[in-house]
Amino acid sequence: MMELGELKYEGKGKRLYSTDIPGELIQQFKNDATAFDGKKHDVIAGKGELNCAISSFFFEHLQAAGVHSHMIARVGSDTMRVHELKMIPVEVVVRNVAAGSICKRLGLDEGLPLERPLTELFYKSDPLGDPMINTEHAQLFGWASEREIVHMRQMARKVNTVLIDLLKSAGIQLIDFKLEFGHLGNDIVLGDEVTPDGCRLWDIDTGNRLDKDRFRRDLGGLSEAYTEVANRLHINLEYKG
Ligand code: TMP
Ligand code: ASP
Repeated sequence: MMELGELKYEGKGKRLYSTDIPGELIQQFKNDATAFDGKKHDVIAGKGELNCAISSFFFEHLQAAGVHSHMIARVGSDTMRVHELKMIPVEVVVRNVAAGSICKRLGLDEGLPLERPLTELFYKSDPLGDPMINTEHAQLFGWASEREIVHMRQMARKVNTVLIDLLKSAGIQLIDFKLEFGHLGNDIVLGDEVTPDGCRLWDIDTGNRLDKDRFRRDLGGLSEAYTEVANRLHINLEYKG
């Protein structure tokens, strides 16, 4: 069990603790599951460890593909050491297939393949329900410059191609996902996590949901689905240090 410093931040799915190295934090993945901006909540045993293992796997593969994240290393079953970022309060969603909010917003059928990946921006605010925004809002309200938005969208598209390939080899279709970014010195890097909490993952053959829609839609079997994702990606779930 590693020593955790002062709790610096607590979100719905993670906690960030200080360490003895300035600029480095420990990110702990919680077992809490939330949806609809925290209005729906449950605790699911084992989810923190599953998400930590899965996010570490994706961050490592993204790093190898030239997409940098805040992760330094996984350091425990549900913890990773990360660089402290100055977070940008704009979430970037990439969609390959219509599902979730875009279906409601535009009256699309769930499962409609999109001709090319679509990126969308949302302002990160639970009280406001993460409203959709465009580049002008981000600029005007000082959340990110136009150049930074262009850069985040480019990184998000690159993440999309890397994740699509990894998941396809595991028989999983990447429907959509959400990313968060932050400043690290002069760079913008990926923050937060890449897990089935923030992605839609469908079995390529059956369309079976292997993501947090199991919780949002009361389908049950969330930890079984996340375990299935990890197993199919050959992620070792036993953290040995
Ligand atoms: P949406 O269909 O609700 O807009 O979500 C699209 C994808 O992004 C879905 O995989 C869930 C993820 N997402 C989050 O994880 N958190 C968020 O706050 C938002 C807006 C989306
Ligand atoms: N912002 C939402 C939440 O309450 C995200 C979601 O529905 O996945 O966790």
